[in-house]
Amino acid sequence: MRILVFGRVGQLGTALAELLGPLHETIFLDQPEIDLSKPDSVFAHVHEHAPDLVINAAAYTAVDKAETEPNLADAINARAPGAMAAACAGAKIPLVHYSTDYVFDGSASTPYRESAPVSPRSVYGRGKLAGEQAVAQATDQHVILRTAWLYSHVGHNFVKTMLRLAAEGKPVRVVGDQMGSPTYAWDLAQASVAVVEALAQGRDDIYGIFHATNAGVTSWHGFAERIFDLAGYDDVELVAISTDEYPTPAPRPAYSVLCCDRLQEVFGVTLPEWPDALARCIERL
Ligand SMILES: NC(=O)c1ccc[n+]([C@@H]2O[C@H](COP(=O)([O-])OP(=O)(O)OC[C@H]3O[C@@H](n4cnc5c(N)ncnc54)[C@H](OP(=O)(O)O)[C@@H]3O)[C@@H](O)[C@H]2O)c1
Repeated sequence: MRILVFGRVGQLGTALAELLGPLHETIFLDQPEIDLSKPDSVFAHVHEHAPDLVINAAAYTAVDKAETEPNLADAINARAPGAMAAACAGAKIPLVHYSTDYVFDGSASTPYRESAPVSPRSVYGRGKLAGEQAVAQATDQHVILRTAWLYSHVGHNFVKTMLRLAAEGKPVRVVGDQMGSPTYAWDLAQASVAVVEALAQGRDDIYGIFHATNAGVTSWHGFAERIFDLAGYDDVELVAISTDEYPTPAPRPAYSVLCCDRLQEVFGVTLPEWPDALARCIERL
């Protein structure tokens, strides 16, 4: 298949390049060739490259900054995916897109299913939800993978931040009352490959929204603890704090756990346990 991927240099895009590259003809578009803050430019690129499938690994992911840049965040996270979906509808090809646990308000106490009511609490969350809706409105041929707490050995993320703080040798204070499933971008890309293969086989019973995170649940504090353990930082003073002690411009969901059963049922894919994924990430750092 000829696959056009928006976003090569991010966490997910890098993993997709490594995993999809050997399997399919892939074309990756990044800035400056494409600027998704100008969504109309998407049509010409889809037309020019005439792909069999489009994947959108690009997004505005600066969650706190989005609070002061809502127009930019929404252009990239809502209007651009909508334009991609419209271009895909015109070409009668599928679109694979990614969304977030931030579409939920985090007030649940059991894992969110895909059908759970959405109620985003931040500009980023509302924009990503608008992106989901724009995609679904433009084409039925979409697969939207909602993920959470994404990290990788490339890019900017919590793992890299924790390792930097540990190296500085100061006490590290990390929120202990937000629960979620840390997800290695490589494992999300691997799940995406399964989606691509199902689409390549012409299956048309696989469209819609799917939750895709590594298995298992922890807090940011528990995540940090395991990072230090795996990286051999035995002497870091790690302090659990509450969300109230770490105010952020964009509120975070207290409970971000996504039920990934549907991904298993439809694609036969379950992402590995998060500590296993983290160990593989740390090995590649
Ligand atoms: N990171 C998380 O914790 C998290 C959690 C839940 C869901 N997600 C979702 O997972 C997906 C992948 O996230 P990620 O962590 O891999 O993102 P990332 O590392 O921040 O990468 C974002 C990508 O988008 C591109 N991009 C940003 N603005 C652009 C623009 N104006 N025009 C063209 N490209 C632009 C970036 O390219 P440049 O660097 O050149 O700008 C980069 O390739 C996204 O849909 C995200 O919303 C992420």
